[in-house]
Amino acid sequence: MGKTWEELEQACLNCQRCALADTRHHVVFGMGPRNAEIMCIGEGPGEQEDLQGIPFVGRAGKLLDDMLELIDLSRESNVYIANIVKCRPPQNRDPLNTEQDACIDYLRAQVALIRPKIIVCLGRIAACRLIREDFKITKEHGTWVEKSGVWMTAVYHPAAILRDPSKRPDTFLDLKSIQKKIQDVCTHTY
Ligand code: URA
Repeated sequence: MGKTWEELEQACLNCQRCALADTRHHVVFGMGPRNAEIMCIGEGPGEQEDLQGIPFVGRAGKLLDDMLELIDLSRESNVYIANIVKCRPPQNRDPLNTEQDACIDYLRAQVALIRPKIIVCLGRIAACRLIREDFKITKEHGTWVEKSGVWMTAVYHPAAILRDPSKRPDTFLDLKSIQKKIQDVCTHTY
């Protein structure tokens, strides 16, 4: 693509590549420092995100902020947050493969501009799209793979943790593993 941030954001805000454009209130482009060494990638905006145009602002977003704070991260200072699809799927259904296909170039362009050291997939949908098509979140959360010089891992989606608090201890260990990876591969995060 080779776009600037401004060109990319404009293209995304005007996007009509799939039917989600017809029902959205806002495109949720992403937020965070554009020199972040860490990106967190969710699946797609929910109701509050669609209304406000900002990723992870509902109840799951508050939990995500708490999870990040545990390891001294925040969207204000050192993490860029984005989604696989930038417009809300109706009734919060999973984004269709066709919708993901239509949208993924925007995320790829964001990754190309940011050049993160670490990508954290939030939940199964992002992990299956970005790590491996048959990624099993229950078995493989917290594992690491290096792809094109970027370290990739997945944690349970914050909404899944809210539904099932027994996922919290595993998630705490996954966060500590992310903290260790940051210490190993990042240069200006801590
Ligand atoms: N869930 C997601 O996957 N992304 C958001 O932005 C909000 C909730």
